[in-house]
Amino acid sequence: MPKLDIEQFPCLSDNYAVLIHDAEAGMTASIDAPDADAILERLAAKGWRLTHLLVTHHHGDHTGGNLKLKEATGCMVIGPNGEAERIPGIDQAVGEGDIIRFGHFDIRVLETPGHTLGHVAYWIPEAHAVFVGDTLFAMGSGRVFEGNAEMMWNSLKKIMELPPDTEIYCGHEYTAANAQFALTVDPDNVALQERAKEVGDLRAKGLPTLPTRLDRELETNPFLRADAPAIRAKLGLPFAPAWKVFAEIRQRKNKA
Ligand SMILES: [Fe+2]
Repeated sequence: MPKLDIEQFPCLSDNYAVLIHDAEAGMTASIDAPDADAILERLAAKGWRLTHLLVTHHHGDHTGGNLKLKEATGCMVIGPNGEAERIPGIDQAVGEGDIIRFGHFDIRVLETPGHTLGHVAYWIPEAHAVFVGDTLFAMGSGRVFEGNAEMMWNSLKKIMELPPDTEIYCGHEYTAANAQFALTVDPDNVALQERAKEVGDLRAKGLPTLPTRLDRELETNPFLRADAPAIRAKLGLPFAPAWKVFAEIRQRKNKA
């Protein structure tokens, strides 16, 4: 079974850069390009050659390094076809169901609109990993900038249906603030209480709280638990469609 190395490191103010590497195939991909210099430095330190850049969405803190990385490495830039004209240096546009062959691995494209209209996630079933950009965060969700709440809820549902042992790599370290907010809408959730404490300890040591795992998110992320009776009761929405409960949680978080 070929191995996929995954290297995550912080950059900019609260972004994460992620490199994936198939040593046997000699291929490396960067998920997004928040900071070209930081990524080039890490590639040099690992002795990896960048072959692919997989872009989740057009925001500048995910694409700012595209052109510099492409120029420095000749990597192929792949991004969402829904916003291809806003992805600098794009070579290949992809959408729902597309499969990108990467060494020994197939990377599956999931369209996850809401944060932006063309946003995509990249799922590698054989590596038990998904790269979700700004759609989902640990105990949080992305802000709904271009789409609407129902659209975002459907995107989150798509991620919720992946195998529960899937490791989730997110674009930002927002976990501590998300945990504090999560406790306001799901205060009696013991798993959440424990996790909030654990996250506080990790951040106090300057350690990352990511990647997270889908089964943990299903237990502790209030945005994924919009259909849970305890959250519905807390918000006074026992019979609303789940996406409306999600919308209410999102609105509260925007104001928090
Ligand atoms: Fe974003």
